[in-house]
Amino acid sequence: MTCPVREAPTGCATSPAISRSRCCERRPHEPAGVPGARVPDDRLDRRLLGEPGEPSRRRSGGAGFRARAAPQDPPESGEPFERLLQDMEDVVAPALLHWQHPRFFGYFPANASGPAVLGDLLASGLGVQGMNWNTSPACTEVEQQMLEWTRRALGLPERFRDGGVIQDTASSAVLVAVLAALQRATEGRSRETGTGGRRYAVYLTSETHSAATKAAVIAGLGLGSVRTVATGSDGSMLPEELRARIEADRGDGVTPLMVVATRGTTSALAFDPLEEVGAVCRSHGVWLHVDAAYAGVAAVCEELRWVNDGVGYADSYCTNPHKWLLTNFDCDLFWVADREALTGALSVLPEYLRNSASDSGRVTDFRHWQIPLGRRFRALKLWSVLRWYGVAGLRDHVRVGVEHARLFADLVRADDRFELTRDPCLGLVCFRLTADGGTSEAQHRLMETVNAEGTTFLTHSEADGRVFLRFATGGTFTRDHHVVEAWKALQGAVTEG
Ligand SMILES: Cc1ncc(COP(=O)(O)O)c(C=O)c1O
Repeated sequence: MTCPVREAPTGCATSPAISRSRCCERRPHEPAGVPGARVPDDRLDRRLLGEPGEPSRRRSGGAGFRARAAPQDPPESGEPFERLLQDMEDVVAPALLHWQHPRFFGYFPANASGPAVLGDLLASGLGVQGMNWNTSPACTEVEQQMLEWTRRALGLPERFRDGGVIQDTASSAVLVAVLAALQRATEGRSRETGTGGRRYAVYLTSETHSAATKAAVIAGLGLGSVRTVATGSDGSMLPEELRARIEADRGDGVTPLMVVATRGTTSALAFDPLEEVGAVCRSHGVWLHVDAAYAGVAAVCEELRWVNDGVGYADSYCTNPHKWLLTNFDCDLFWVADREALTGALSVLPEYLRNSASDSGRVTDFRHWQIPLGRRFRALKLWSVLRWYGVAGLRDHVRVGVEHARLFADLVRADDRFELTRDPCLGLVCFRLTADGGTSEAQHRLMETVNAEGTTFLTHSEADGRVFLRFATGGTFTRDHHVVEAWKALQGAVTEG
């Protein structure tokens, strides 16, 4: 088999990323014996989005499943499972965006892997509810151990020991963090009176994920509680601005409640300076929540531990193995330094859940650490991933994603019709087309053309009113040649356009 990387015309032969890479080799972490761990080749040829000739329908948001395949009423009698599988093939798959496709470079990755699927299958089949320790002790204890394993693997501080839990998403993590902050700030009075007519403030930046604003609204603080702190040119929070906003609020009788700092923002990976922000929070007694949903797991590699610099100041912290750590959605790791604030905010005890183990005070009931009562055995998929790949395999996966971003950035640099809008960071390359007028419309046109071809998928964002394109590596099945093929698709779209 020829190597598509070495055949690639532009820049590749001299790319340092290419010479570093293991092109055409099986990646060391790639499992051989787990069903579903590798996508069969015919699936890889599949289009990423929809079927050829249907872009207009896709753009209008109607993929056609309901019109083409779904009868108005459910079947009266049962059907063989094969028929459902056939429909999956014929009408569901063409209406999917294939996030596990090796040329999916949109948003951030949402890694699935064979071991995670098997772990999840076990959890689904067992169907246990881990709301209380006594409803399945192993469900709680495996989870506790997984949080300890990952705390160590990511080099997170001792203050988070025994303070970890799996949430579904980073959005839930920031919500429970707001509630815990409210509990601490009011010494528990918020349980009785809610905000009690007091005004609170939550500080973030324009780059913070919208989940934080949503959390403030859900917690009853109102949109008026949200303060958007100014950022520097790199999009990171300016600590002196934060201090000034907090002091101004204090002067106005508003209680500064919480700062949401991000390590690796969604749009272009800005990193809020935790040490300075943390010092401001400490001096004003403000809860610091750190959202490292995408970037945090990169700390599995020693050389990338900087992603969590300053995390020792955090009252709560979260990162998502379901993005870049080979663990199927959903799986968010959430730690708090003070468990009492969290469980104080979220504990309610109806008689029907009372049991002697909980009464003994010697066990952990994770229902007090989250919004819902019921909880899946999510730790099984994480356990499966950690045991199958080992920490070394996870490091390798992250490093390959970083290499792929460097490779793509080298290709962009070598073509004067494009420019990087910043140096590649972790697995994200932000770039733009300078040809075709270099306008925001030109970026959209290029992205839509490439995505409509169905062989590559990428997304966009905006900074200072200018649209740029995002190329996010780190897919479970992505190899060097997929990166090069995606680049060729972009070049081809410019040439044709
Ligand atoms: C920095 C950051 N925070 C939060 C989120 C939301 O993640 P989730 O879907 O787990 O709520 C994202 C999603 O991309 C993100 O990038």
